[in-house]
Amino acid sequence: ILQQNSFSLFSISEPVNMETNRILCLGKLCVDIIAECEDFPQEDSDQRCKRQRWQRGGNANNTSTVLSILGAPVEYLGTIANSHELGFLRDDYQRAGIIIDNCVIVDNCSCPVSLVLLSSVSGSRTIIHDSGSLPELTHKDFQVDLGSYAWVHFEGRPSAAEQVKMLRDIDNHNADLEENDRITTSVELEKNRPALAQLIDKADYVFISKDYATAHGFYSKEDAVEGFVDKIREGATVICAWGEDGACAKPKGEPTISVPAISPGTIIDTLGAGDTFNAAMIHALCKGAVLQSALTFACKVAGEKCGMKGFSGLR
Ligand code: ADP
Ligand code: FRU
Repeated sequence: ILQQNSFSLFSISEPVNMETNRILCLGKLCVDIIAECEDFPQEDSDQRCKRQRWQRGGNANNTSTVLSILGAPVEYLGTIANSHELGFLRDDYQRAGIIIDNCVIVDNCSCPVSLVLLSSVSGSRTIIHDSGSLPELTHKDFQVDLGSYAWVHFEGRPSAAEQVKMLRDIDNHNADLEENDRITTSVELEKNRPALAQLIDKADYVFISKDYATAHGFYSKEDAVEGFVDKIREGATVICAWGEDGACAKPKGEPTISVPAISPGTIIDTLGAGDTFNAAMIHALCKGAVLQSALTFACKVAGEKCGMKGFSGLR
C-alpha cells in the first residue's frame, strides 16, 4: 500500500538532473554490525543470534540511503577511514547509487563501528558505539561545487563549529540567487551535545529528536516545537519526530501541524527510523509537498521501515 500510495505521491516523474538537483548529506558514516536476536540478551549469557550482518550506518549516511531508495539523486559527504571496512563501504555506496566523490579518505585511523542488538520480540535496537579515531570533516574539506545541490542536510556533529562555517558558505552562495535556485538547508539535532545549539538558527529546517527534546525538558513533540521555535531563524521550520507518537512541525510564526504515526503492524527493526523519517521529509519537501503532506509521507515511510529489516525493502 505504501509503495502505491505514498511513493507514487512524490515519485520522480521527470528525469532527474544529477548535476544540479542533488541532495547532499553530511554527518556520520559507520559500520553497523547487527545481531538479530530472539530477545534482548541476558548479561553474561552465551547464545546464538538468528543472523548477523553488516550495514552502512550513521544518521546522515542512513538518510542518504533512504533518499536514494526514494529516487532522489543523492551524495554523502564525510570522512572515511582508510581501514579494512573501506572496501565494504565503497562497494555498498556504489550498489546504492550514492555519490561519494567528495569524501575525504583518511589514513592511519580506525573506522567508527556500532554493535547493534536487534530484539525480534520488540523490534528494539540497542546500539553500542565505538567512534574510532576518524577525524570529523572540517570546513577546509568542504570543497564542493554548490551549484550541484538543491538541498544540503547536516547531521549535527561535535564539530558543529565547522558545520556552521559550511552553512555560512551556503548562505553566501544563496545570497546572489533567485529564490527558486537557492539551496535549502536542514540540520538534525539528535544527541544532547552542547555544541549542537549553535546550529539551530543556521538552517531552513531543523529536525529535533525526541532524545534532544527530552534532554531540554520537553516531554511531547508539540511542547518541543513550541519550545524551540523561538530559536530558529526567520522563515525556518522546526520538526520533531516522536516514535510511535508520530511527528509534528512548526514554521516560525505559524501554527503547529501534528500527524500520527502509521504502524506497520509488527515492529521488526527500528534502527534508523528517525533517519528514514528525515529522508522522507526532505524528499517530499524537495518535491514541493506542503508541510502536512510531507509529515504524513515521512510517518508512512518511517512506519513501513519499522516493519522490515534494514532499508532495502522500502524500494
Ligand atoms: P529514532 O529513535 O530512530 O530517532 P523515532 O523514534 O523518533 O526515531 O521515530 C521516527 C519516526 O519513525 C516516527 O515519527 C514514526 O513515524 C516512526 N516510528 C518510530 N517508531 C514507530 C512505531 N513503533 N510505530 C510506527 N511508527 C514508528
Ligand atoms: C541509527 C544510527 C546507526 C548508528 C548510530 C550512530 O540512527 O545512525 O546507524 O550506529 O545511529 O549514532
